[in-house]
Amino acid sequence: MCGIVGYVGKRDAADVLMDGLSKLEYRGYDSAGIAVFENEVIKVAKSKGRLADLQAKMDQDGKPSGHAGIGHTRWATHGEPSDRNSHPHGGGNVTLVHNGIIENYKKLKEFLLAKGRNFESDTDTEVIAQLLDYYYEENHGNPIEAIVKTLKELEGSYALGVVFADFPDRVFALRKESPLIVGIGEGESFIASDVTAILQYTKNYYLLEPGEIAVLSKQEAKVYDLHYQKVEKELKTADWDVSAAEKGGYEHYMLKEIHEQPESIKKTITPRIENGLPNLEECGITPERLMQFNKIHIVACGTAMHAGMVGKYVIEKLAKISVNVDIASEFRYREPLVSEKDLVIIISQSGETADSLAALRLSKQLGAKTLAIVNAKGSSIAREADMLIYTHAGPEIAVASTKAYMVQIAVMYLFAFELALANKKIDEAECRRLTALLQGTPDQISKILEHKEMTQMIASELITADSLLYIGRGLDYALSMEGSLKLKEISYIHSESYAAGELKHGTISLITEEMPVIAVATQQNLFDKTISNIKEVKARGAKVILVSRDSYQPEKDVADFKFGLPEYEDLLMPMLAVVPLQLIAYYTAVLKGTDVDKPRNLAKSVTVE
Ligand code: F6R
Repeated sequence: MCGIVGYVGKRDAADVLMDGLSKLEYRGYDSAGIAVFENEVIKVAKSKGRLADLQAKMDQDGKPSGHAGIGHTRWATHGEPSDRNSHPHGGGNVTLVHNGIIENYKKLKEFLLAKGRNFESDTDTEVIAQLLDYYYEENHGNPIEAIVKTLKELEGSYALGVVFADFPDRVFALRKESPLIVGIGEGESFIASDVTAILQYTKNYYLLEPGEIAVLSKQEAKVYDLHYQKVEKELKTADWDVSAAEKGGYEHYMLKEIHEQPESIKKTITPRIENGLPNLEECGITPERLMQFNKIHIVACGTAMHAGMVGKYVIEKLAKISVNVDIASEFRYREPLVSEKDLVIIISQSGETADSLAALRLSKQLGAKTLAIVNAKGSSIAREADMLIYTHAGPEIAVASTKAYMVQIAVMYLFAFELALANKKIDEAECRRLTALLQGTPDQISKILEHKEMTQMIASELITADSLLYIGRGLDYALSMEGSLKLKEISYIHSESYAAGELKHGTISLITEEMPVIAVATQQNLFDKTISNIKEVKARGAKVILVSRDSYQPEKDVADFKFGLPEYEDLLMPMLAVVPLQLIAYYTAVLKGTDVDKPRNLAKSVTVE
């Protein structure tokens, strides 16, 4: 969590830093700050709250003016959100910004206190600044040596942007676990947690590796290893343009991203389909390889885990291979039964989620083969997995994931089709038919997006609720988990998802007139059973909102409102049905006036356990 940026060049550094931070605010937004060299002296401006609060403070007190500096937007770990705990933090000659967690900070703080050093904040970050300054003094003002010594002491995760008062035209950067890229412009250099922060200025960047130190100046960005040897880096070019990271006329990123889903699916699946059949060879996946796996584990967090739930139903149905879906934070500490004949699939939008990354590493240690399904290019999970399928959703800025989920499930389908064909559980004609249906989903979704008014009306029925339930069976149940998470995370209305058939084993006692139920019923083989469950809650007073096929006209004893979906193959209905659920969550949050794109207490990239 937290976003960091750094700049050296000819532009106004404060403007570049603030602009970069605005693209990174999704990573945390409880405080923000910048440090800029003004006439060769480091000037810091920082504030609790959003970037807008920092901007207001600078408008009042004056912004630091110069051409080199660092910036930070925070998601608090050690120390409450406050002005005092906001980054940048300083120690003598050193000022720095940090993304990550220093696990041994207490021990290091004791050491530094014993050396007579004083601390102004409650953060682990200030310990790094003080330690770096301590070694800087000890090494007679050699920044690289001080950094190398400090690195050896730090346990935990970090991406750091550092300035030394003695080097007013330089920014130093390094990382372990937390992501950091180095941007290369003409006569200017950048660092950022994510490439979207610098796209406006340059698309060229290096991926900084752990154990590398970047030294940025106006002319160039040099990268050194821990022995002070220059490292030749491969220059990468971002294929996202600036507009991909902007709102493009929509009121919120979330709404824009919901509308981008048809395009994201096409970009993700089209390059992986050849002659009407899935072809994942460029991702390291061949039919021969697929035939070797006994069992599949899908490990992920939050929305990505919900995509895994859809994957489980589809893989088990088509390929007849047993699939376990696990929450990464549980998997990694459960001594999971994973063997060398198993495949572990890690799904992650950011590719940096700490628990998912740890689950990947554990699976490799246990000898399993690993496949990553990741959206962020060059992220840690993408780099460490044995096989990799990138989803091409483009940058997802809204904290609540929508288009990333959509392409994750699109990939799950493609993978399941290829696996089922490789294992001879379906024939080529069936695989072709299913692949064509998957290719048809973007048009169906576009149709749904053209008729979204009903979701606004449903939202207006939900805003007074304190709590609600999502129910469904089979794939509809897998999907209702995602619908429920979407609603609660952005509207702050409590909600749970339940397998419809499980309600009468306890939860139905919660049903009153005050508890709306959103029921998803798209699966024809389960339809009658789901409708019976819906009638049970309706009979107990619940207001029922039904998401089902256009062809079904519910009686009054079934639903109060219905969102109709186009007729489509059962198996692929989750890709269609998720859209109204996303829109219902979105409009409910809008009507409640919450901060839709940046819901409270959350951050998009969860790089801490
Ligand atoms: C919810 C949401 C989160 C993420 C989860 C995993 O809308 O976005 O639940 O899905 O934090 O993040 P990634 O996919 O980056 O590993």
